[in-house]
Amino acid sequence: MTQYSSLSTVKPLSINDLSAMKRRGEKISCLTAYDASFSMLIDSAGIDMMLVGDSLGMVIQGHDTTLPVKMDDMVYHTRCVSNARRRAFVIADLPFMSYATPLMAAENAARLMQAGGAQMVKLEGARTDCVAFLVDQGIPVCGHLGLLPQSINQLGSYKVQGKERVEAEKILADAHKLEQAGAGLLVLECVPAKLAGDISAQLSIPVIGIGAGIDCDGQVLVLYDMLNIGVGKRPRFSRDFMQGAAGIGQAIAAYHEAVKQLQFPTPEHSF
Ligand code: KIV
Repeated sequence: MTQYSSLSTVKPLSINDLSAMKRRGEKISCLTAYDASFSMLIDSAGIDMMLVGDSLGMVIQGHDTTLPVKMDDMVYHTRCVSNARRRAFVIADLPFMSYATPLMAAENAARLMQAGGAQMVKLEGARTDCVAFLVDQGIPVCGHLGLLPQSINQLGSYKVQGKERVEAEKILADAHKLEQAGAGLLVLECVPAKLAGDISAQLSIPVIGIGAGIDCDGQVLVLYDMLNIGVGKRPRFSRDFMQGAAGIGQAIAAYHEAVKQLQFPTPEHSF
């Protein structure tokens, strides 16, 4: 059985390391992670960031949406991932309705950091009230714009956001507002590559894309999609990295290399 040592001499990456990567033009690699074994494999492959996403509601729990995910689920899975992490920066999602007010956001973010071991929390939408309040309490925050899975019942379907000019201008303006409120990172999900490229160029914080084209500062994929072991259909913006790989570790390493060498995503994975 694998032994996880808490006496590792490897230093975990910090938000400053990620910002430095953006400044020197090095792409940031990120995958979602939900347990200790995958955390160890992802970390060993050199991936820079692990996101304990509320996508676990779909890929681990088998729900149709991320909405049923509870704070207890997020704390549990974040702890599992943190236990095996050595170098990768760990971000955890605040789930649906856990940040209805800035105070709720702070209490729940504190759980993800204290009990879960997260270094940063992520929330969806232009919630500058919560971002500013959390940052004021010393809690690093990652914003999330574009397709917002927690708003699926308002959106009606998982579709590309920001195709129309007015919509694109709002996403761009919201990105600036989140940076001004103190967000340290931004995830852009399913937006046109041109819009994501403009936002990445205009913001000084790292912008991590998923279905957002090659010009973001980094890329994230849902682990089970890129291993092609998801319960649903693999999204168009993902790639099956198991193809040609001898095992899971090799597939994750191939993803890391493809992101670093600007070989992923290609136009076929972009909008
Ligand atoms: O929950 C998640 O996995 C995410 C990614 C899709 C960015 O938020």
